[in-house]
Amino acid sequence: MEVRKNKIMVENLCKTYHTNSGDHEVLKDISFNVEENEFLVLLGPGRCGKTVLLNILAELEEQDSGKIIFDGGRPEMGNIGLVFQKYALFPWKTVMGNVEMSPKLKGVDKATRQANAQEYIDLVGLHGFEKHLPKQLSGGMKQRVGIARAYATEADIMLMDEPFGALDAQTRYSMEDAIINIWEKNKRTIVFVTNNVEEAIYLGDRIILLSSRPATIKKEYKVDLPRPRSYTDRAFLELRNEIVANTDLDV
Ligand SMILES: Nc1ncnc2c1ncn2[C@@H]1O[C@H](COP(=O)(O)OP(=O)(O)O)[C@@H](O)[C@H]1O
Ligand SMILES: [Mg+2]
Repeated sequence: MEVRKNKIMVENLCKTYHTNSGDHEVLKDISFNVEENEFLVLLGPGRCGKTVLLNILAELEEQDSGKIIFDGGRPEMGNIGLVFQKYALFPWKTVMGNVEMSPKLKGVDKATRQANAQEYIDLVGLHGFEKHLPKQLSGGMKQRVGIARAYATEADIMLMDEPFGALDAQTRYSMEDAIINIWEKNKRTIVFVTNNVEEAIYLGDRIILLSSRPATIKKEYKVDLPRPRSYTDRAFLELRNEIVANTDLDV
């Protein structure tokens, strides 16, 4: 059996916000590991604390207690690839300009960074759109740029917070295929947040199911279905029903 090492170890994370209306407990004793090159999905109902958890992993926020241990030490700022629901592209830069931005800031020479950027642009299916500006692109295409840009940072850890949440269903399916395509050809450790059970099963090697707020880990599912997966496959539907039965209502 293949033994993979842990890339991220999360131990007993807790987070409570102290607000005018009282204490607001968001994360309660969250512990899990992410293996190197694993596609891990965090699945949980709306407002349960998914974004807070991902922000703590990205060091955009601080936990009250608990630890996050990265194999090889905490990545330097900018060495975690982030993809959020909002596209956050530079509107005055072309697709190529957006994707090559991070390596450019790191001083990578133009020929190297543009060759790398081109590879990722091709892998997300945007060949021919290199010179387009974000305003000329659809929502799905902008999110493809976001994924290519995160890849081009050469970060080996990617955190994705409901990146397809604002897209219509059809676009969302093609984005799910796009992310699996690039990840299968160029493996990274991905932590992908969603509130959509089908998306979780379609994408994940493993799913961690969170409770409603305060988020706790309810259960973990290994998804042993071969890729490409099918939403209508019997084993897919069985797993879906099992997860739905264990999922807290989105209140
Ligand atoms: N800075 C903050 N101050 C107070 N409450 C917050 C703050 N950030 C998030 N929360 C609360 O934490 C809960 C979880 O939020 P979030 O992680 O965004 O949920 P989701 O699972 O939908 O991503 C929500 O009730 C939200 O209002
Ligand atoms: Mg969120």
